[in-house]
Order: sequence, then C-alpha cells, then structure tokens
Amino acid sequence: MSFRLQPAAPARPNRCQLFGPGSNTKLFAKMAASAADVINLDLEDSVASSDKDQARANVIEAIGNVDWGTKTLSVRINGLDTPYWYRDVVDLLEQSSDRLDQIMIPKVGCAEDVYAVDALVTAIEAAKGRAKKIAFEVIIESAAGIAHVEEIAASSPRLEAISLGAADFAASMGMQTTGIGGTQENYYMLREGQKYWSDPWHWAQTAIVAACRTHGILPVDGPFGDFSDDEGYIAQAMRSATLGMVGKWAIHPKQIALANQVFTPSEAAVAEAREILAAMEAAKASGAGATVYKGRLVDIASIKQAEVIVKQSEMIAAG
Ligand code: COA
Ligand code: MG
Repeated sequence: MSFRLQPAAPARPNRCQLFGPGSNTKLFAKMAASAADVINLDLEDSVASSDKDQARANVIEAIGNVDWGTKTLSVRINGLDTPYWYRDVVDLLEQSSDRLDQIMIPKVGCAEDVYAVDALVTAIEAAKGRAKKIAFEVIIESAAGIAHVEEIAASSPRLEAISLGAADFAASMGMQTTGIGGTQENYYMLREGQKYWSDPWHWAQTAIVAACRTHGILPVDGPFGDFSDDEGYIAQAMRSATLGMVGKWAIHPKQIALANQVFTPSEAAVAEAREILAAMEAAKASGAGATVYKGRLVDIASIKQAEVIVKQSEMIAAG
C-alpha cells in the first residue's frame, strides 16, 4: 500500500438501485415496497420536457409522504447542460423533507460540474438550516466523464457512488450500438472461424472502479435495457461484481432480485473466504506467511481478498 491509505467506501448496501420516472406517481409506493437498497426518483431522461415541473413537484411531495423505510433515497436531477437543473436543486433542497439522502448528477464531465452543484447545495442547506447533509452520486456517461473520472471521484466529500451509464456513454463515444449494456453482436474476436464475444464496457468499468476505490466511493453498474433478458442481466452483473462493482441499476422490478442475488456474496463464497482466513490464522500461528488451501497458494494478500467478501456479506446482513 502507498503511504496514502485507501479510504473505505460508505458501508451501506447498494446492490440494486431502482429507477422510476418522477412523472409516474403510481410507481412510488411500489418502489418503496421493493427489495432495492437504493431508490432513484428520476427528473431527467425518463421525464418529458413538458412534465419537468410536475415531476419535480411529485417527487418533493413523495419524499415526505411515502414511507421509504430504511432505503437510501436519491433523486436524479437534470444535467448541467439543461435549463432545469438549478430549479431541481433549489426546489428539492428548499422544499423536500429531511428524508432525502442523495442527489444523483447525470452526465458529469469534469470535477467543476460537481463543484457547481456542491456550492448551490451548501448555500441552501445553510440558508434553510437543513440538519442532514445531502450526499451525491454521479453518472459517468460521456467521453469527458470517463477521461476525467479520477478528478470527478476526488471532487467532493459529498460523493458516495459513481455509476456507468451505458447508453449515453455509447452515444457520446460514437459507439456503433443501440443496446443499453450487455453483449454487443459486432464486438468479437475470431479464432479458427469461431466468434468469441468480448466485453466493450470492461475498460470503462475498470476505470470507474479504480477511481472509486482510490477515493472511497462505491462503483456501480448502470442500466441494462432489455428487461426480458434475465440471463443477459445476470451475466453483465456478474462481470461487474467480479471487477469490483457493488451493485447495478434496475429499470424494471424484475431486475431487483437478479441484482440482489449477484451482489450478495453467496454462502459458498463466504464459507470459502472464512476457511482461507482460518488457514492463514493457522499459518501465522506456525510462523508462516503463506500456506496451501485446496491445493493452491494463499498468502497475506489472500487475507485481504477474503476479507472483502466477508465484510461485504456482514455489512449486507447488518443493513
Ligand atoms: N418501479 C416499480 N414498479 C414498477 C416499475 C418501476 N420502475 N416499472 C414497472 N413497475 C410495475 C408496474 O406498475 C406493474 O405493476 P402492477 O403489476 O401492479 O400493474 C409491474 O411492475 C409490471 O410492469 P410492466 O407492465 O412489466 O411494465 P410497464 O410497461 O408498466 O413499465 C417501463 C415499463 C420500462 C416503462 C417502466 O418499468 C419504467 O418506467 N421503468 C423505469 C424507467 C426509468 O426510470 N428510466 C430512467 C433510468 S434509465
Ligand atoms: Mg443517461
């Protein structure tokens, strides 16, 4: 480890973030009753321009009047390139109850985007005497966002999570796809005439995970558009989990259980992690720094790997 230690990410479950349009009030109670860890009420791209004012009013009302239980409650505001975002922030911070936990800023392209929202939020919190400090989450979904992901991750002490938004990201990058995440038909390697599909989202995910882990922030995989394709969702989520992401969005309720399943360490994985820790305890007692577990090397690094799984499992059980 560097002299500068890696900060821990917020210790709260973030396996599934369920989205719903702020214009669709019928969904709010269903979202609150769901098994998602995080609720994202949307004012941005699932709300038509003509509905922006009404959606904002709906969301402010629902923050105070729906029973959200112990979920993390987040509102996605409009992007800084629109005429809506400042009114989203002002009205939310001036009028919503203290139940609001977080604001999600979409299409962030540089640290200054976060700074601008931070300045506005900080001033309104002080003016209104809001007791609870609002947290931030952002979406990396543009070429500028991924190019500046490290400075964005360092941009504000309010920042708790960063998601990859595959659809806007693909558009901004000029990628030849209309799919939202998942396998892309034309992204394959050829060997002896056989196609082997590769993962075009991989590098952006790892860039986000590295920036997040450097700054103690939760890395999250964004939407998977084809909600009829459970296997495709699970495959994408398992790749994200393997790379270090802690959760994934749901844009339909049937995706919630899938995310919770993938991002909750399995009993078998936790049992194996505990066995590795026990094997290393025994090794340490005999003065060794490395030992053999099921025919393979485990050493002091294995303790840290096993602890990631055990701690994640304990945190989810406690949450
Ligand atoms: N949260 C909670 N419940 C939801 C829901 C959501 N996001 N989306 C649908 N449901 C409910 C429906 O109301 C319906 O409930 P019912 O059985 O009581 O009637 C049930 O789940 C089945 O819904 P279904 O008919 O399959 O879907 P739909 O046609 O009503 O809606 C979408 C499909 C995609 C329009 C809708 O899921 C949606 O708006 N998703 C969120 C989109 C969004 O927020 N995008 C921004 C982030 S990318
Ligand atoms: Mg988007």
